[in-house]
Amino acid sequence: MKIGIFDSGIGGLTVLERLLKEGFSQSYIYLCDNKNSPFGNKKIEEIKDLVSKGVKTLISKGVDLVVLACNTASVTCLSEVKTKFSIPVFGITPPLSEGEKPRAIFSTSATAKAIEKKAVDWDIIPLSFLASLLDFDFSSREIFSYLDKNLPKENYKTVVLGCTHFPFAKSIFKDKYPQAKILDGGDILIQNLSLFFDKIRGNPLVEIEFIFTGEDKTEYSFSALKFLLEGQ
Ligand code: DGL
Repeated sequence: MKIGIFDSGIGGLTVLERLLKEGFSQSYIYLCDNKNSPFGNKKIEEIKDLVSKGVKTLISKGVDLVVLACNTASVTCLSEVKTKFSIPVFGITPPLSEGEKPRAIFSTSATAKAIEKKAVDWDIIPLSFLASLLDFDFSSREIFSYLDKNLPKENYKTVVLGCTHFPFAKSIFKDKYPQAKILDGGDILIQNLSLFFDKIRGNPLVEIEFIFTGEDKTEYSFSALKFLLEGQ
């Protein structure tokens, strides 16, 4: 089974890492819509349009299933996209059902707006530039400075990383909120995928093809994936 992964940048790699560790498939196509990144600062209609185009491209490349490895795309139009295409489409959304208080969700601006009404008793903190900074250089010092300025000084007990890019900076969130349980939507996505098909285990050979709508960032993407797989 060939799995298509869709995101605006390197965020989807944090999802791909999970899928690789779970051994769901031996074949992946990663579509990075970097020409149109970041999604998180765009209007809903534009995001919907980009997601539809992305899914169409992945279907034309022969994938059997698509994962919207992007919270912004999923909260904006997952249910719509699911009904629009003939192949299964999965997505990742911020887990908001549980979590000790005080609690916070960090996301893009578009996700923050979309979950506003649902996320009762959560501090919703948009970090509008973090995804772009990580796409540029996930190991840069600027990421630390940006988060140092923008993360509230609170003693959070639960922190949700509601953008797939943000786990690249997980160690900074951990340092800032040492008491917090740090969550993202990955576990629920894995559960949903597990129900869908049996894992193929034991074959370490995996083929990953990258497609970029903008500049070719294959080398950067492989080094980012290596960083995740080797543990931060
Ligand atoms: N990685 C994405 C997310 O989970 C989108 C980042 C962006 O393009 O703004 O929301």
